[in-house]
Amino acid sequence: MSFDLVFFGGTGDLTWRKLMPALFQAFRHGKLPEGGRILAVARDEMPDERYREWLKERFREVEGSKRPSDEEFERFAAQVFYRRMDLSQPEHYQRLKEWLSERQADTVVLYLATSPHLFTQICEQLGAAGLNEPRVRVVLEKPLGHDLASAQQINKVVRSVFSESQAFRIDHYLGKPSVQNLMALRFGNALFEPLWHRESIANIQITLAESLGVGTRGPFYDGTGALRDMVQNHALQLLTMIAMEPPSSNDADAIRDEKLKVLRALKPFTPDSVARDVVRGQYRSGTVDGKAVVGYLDEAKVPADSRTETFVALRTEVQNWRWAGVPFYLRTGKRLAARDAQIVVNFRPVPHPIFPGANRPNQLVIKLQPEDGLELRLQAAKGGAHGEALAPVSLDLDFDKAFAADRVGAYERLLLDAIAGRLNLFVRSDEQEQAWRWVEPILDAWAQDPAGPRTYSAGSWGPPAASALVAREGFSWAEEQ
Ligand code: BG6
Repeated sequence: MSFDLVFFGGTGDLTWRKLMPALFQAFRHGKLPEGGRILAVARDEMPDERYREWLKERFREVEGSKRPSDEEFERFAAQVFYRRMDLSQPEHYQRLKEWLSERQADTVVLYLATSPHLFTQICEQLGAAGLNEPRVRVVLEKPLGHDLASAQQINKVVRSVFSESQAFRIDHYLGKPSVQNLMALRFGNALFEPLWHRESIANIQITLAESLGVGTRGPFYDGTGALRDMVQNHALQLLTMIAMEPPSSNDADAIRDEKLKVLRALKPFTPDSVARDVVRGQYRSGTVDGKAVVGYLDEAKVPADSRTETFVALRTEVQNWRWAGVPFYLRTGKRLAARDAQIVVNFRPVPHPIFPGANRPNQLVIKLQPEDGLELRLQAAKGGAHGEALAPVSLDLDFDKAFAADRVGAYERLLLDAIAGRLNLFVRSDEQEQAWRWVEPILDAWAQDPAGPRTYSAGSWGPPAASALVAREGFSWAEEQ
């Protein structure tokens, strides 16, 4: 299958930091279909050779084993081309069309790795130039909109040019092997499903913790905040996969229909419930991994009076028969104690304990990163001098070790899927809009709240109010247990 892949924003951060290295890995693993052409387009004028040199320089910054040797780079770069493009100029789209018509590749993937405010303009111009024929797919990077109205506006334009099956909305969390494993865990095993409901599960916690700060992304991040950056997309996508009903097949729409139902069943927020069930925080200086770090307000290009949240913890419910009354806690933040993304399913305690000592309820921990694994925490009798006292034990699986040879990174997987036309791991417009509909009352309530975010020290697990949120119902976060 031949393909042409075009990166709009071809000299941007995302292209050289994530997309090109991911394509290179696919190439190195022999997974990139042969005979493909990769075209970067951006504002500067430069010949292909200069772009390839520029890319080679950038690749030197790619981490150790992923860095290409000179020989590998040359072979990869032979497929990489560059063209100047002013995105407001219709004739530049005609030139792109001519380039694409030099041969009739089976698939054309147009990846919009630009600032999102250009998405509508680019899509309109693509449509006007006739670059929306059925073999074309458009990939849209997040953030897709800033709120419901802007997301709807983008989707309206995208839909007026492309069919839904041509639109690939990226949430890179869906490309992580551990996230795909969630589907396998639930629907490839008969063991868990009979327990997967309110009778057996006390609460579910989703934590996406980062130890990094905002780095050089201050201006972008300050206009975004943790709710839009991580909750509206990544955390909610994980929640849907944990809570969804079994889809009738592994087809993209069968899966996305079920995910949408979960989003629609989420308990809507009101100003009162935002005040009660949502904690927002902003980091102050502190110590992370043994190093002193500055607070958010002292990060480069962040306004000194910013009220942008760098942390969110919230409680919600999925209002259906399976989950009625079960708290779902979501938590994410920058400059937390560790980089740690995991989902903890806390089962109910045994109804009638007969053993002495602590009868700790079972826990299933789905580890997304830094490790990719699964841990089932159980109770066992220690035996010997300890008599019948129970001790915690765990069954621990490390998928990185078990499947080392087959692991591919999130962007590699998603790029290969976009080339192959597989939509399962991409977000449909109705899912994305429903997620905005759900977070918007939180944004509205915060805008009215004179208090602003609570503070927390860098290197901690967020404001104490986040612990109080779960303690209120007799629970605690995994690291507090
Ligand atoms: C991105 C956010 O979507 O996800 C970043 O914009 C965040 O702020 C990143 O750091 C986290 O991704 P990962 O894969 O490193 O967990």
